[in-house]
Amino acid sequence: MRKIYLVGFMGCGKSAIGRRLSFFLKMPYYDMDHEIVRQQGMTIPEIFEKYGEAHFRKIETEFLKNFRDEACIIATGGGVAVNEENRRIMRQTGLVFFLDAKFEDIYKRIRNDKNRPIVQSTTEQELENLYHQRRKSYRLAGHIQVLTAGRTLRQIVEYIGFQVKRLKGE
Ligand code: S3P
Repeated sequence: MRKIYLVGFMGCGKSAIGRRLSFFLKMPYYDMDHEIVRQQGMTIPEIFEKYGEAHFRKIETEFLKNFRDEACIIATGGGVAVNEENRRIMRQTGLVFFLDAKFEDIYKRIRNDKNRPIVQSTTEQELENLYHQRRKSYRLAGHIQVLTAGRTLRQIVEYIGFQVKRLKGE
């Protein structure tokens, strides 16, 4: 079963785009963070605080290995594509779209978010450095890079939908 994975930095629009894409392509949609919170019975900040980030990363890899064999759309967490094994699993089981947004747009969306422990524990400069470091991983993960700046959600969804159909040969 071919999945559609959305990867990119926190706040790049993975969830908003995933939900709309789900209507557009008539495919089920899952938000990886929400699924993990449900499975674990804890919020993301609680998992980080109680077990540490390394443990959270293991949960993410387990999720990718074990998630249902179904054609669906998955919005990944912003750290998922950093891990090589995760990138391999995603590329083998589906099509990966890198949602490439500008840091300044991202920062406006995430700077006050209490539910993102990495935002809470870093300065703006550190976050920007992390953004630049991670872009390399997102590029390696993605089959297709989608520039989101200056585009509406609708335009982005239509573009991804078009690419999915093209690659499936429809
Ligand atoms: C993280 C991103 C978050 C969530 C966790 C860690 C990261 O997901 O998985 O807080 O390391 O970038 P979003 O990208 O949905 O914010």
